[in-house]
Amino acid sequence: MKFRDYTENDTECLAGVFTSSVHSLATAKYDAVQRDAWAPTPPDLDVWHHRLGQLLTIIAEEDGQCLGFLSYEPDGHIDLLYTAPDSARKGVASALLEEAARQLSEGFGVTDLFTEASLVAVPFFVRHGFDTVDEQTVSRNGVSFRRFAMQRTL
Ligand SMILES: CC(C)(COP(=O)(O)OP(=O)(O)OC[C@H]1O[C@@H](n2cnc3c(N)ncnc32)[C@H](O)[C@@H]1OP(=O)(O)O)[C@@H](O)C(=O)NCCC(=O)NCCS
Repeated sequence: MKFRDYTENDTECLAGVFTSSVHSLATAKYDAVQRDAWAPTPPDLDVWHHRLGQLLTIIAEEDGQCLGFLSYEPDGHIDLLYTAPDSARKGVASALLEEAARQLSEGFGVTDLFTEASLVAVPFFVRHGFDTVDEQTVSRNGVSFRRFAMQRTL
């Protein structure tokens, strides 16, 4: 597995990883209505192009295949973290988080990471030393979601 930075040519691939990840890995915690609101199919590539253009994104890949991606902001905010279904539970997200932590610490002097974790992702972030600081309910496309604000000191 190696890391590289996002380029505009990756938009379709990352939108595909996001969509398949939500509809496959989040089924235990979010019903079909919630998943459709979270990850509409097909994904709107213009929306993704705009969103990814505002973030710093690391792609994990192997043999030209995108295994997952993480998008962050220079203040330590982990905005997006998605692993392709076939690559789940193989350490992809852990490796991406470690790389993002390194880039944020060395490149931006960040000392704290923070995120809004889905119910699916909470065990992952707990495993990586994050603490829950708030429980939130947010609306996406008119549908409610529970999520957890979490943070960790580097
Ligand atoms: C959450 C997510 C990014 C984890 O990706 P991953 O590449 O499978 O994670 P890793 O393999 O690095 O997992 C590391 C550890 O985190 C924990 N973990 C990860 N996924 C877990 C799950 N579904 N349930 C319980 N623990 C989990 C485990 O301790 C795991 O170690 P183990 O496999 O040795 O038990 C992935 O499940 C995903 O994309 N989910 C759907 C989308 C989502 O909710 N994204 C986060 C938005 S905030």
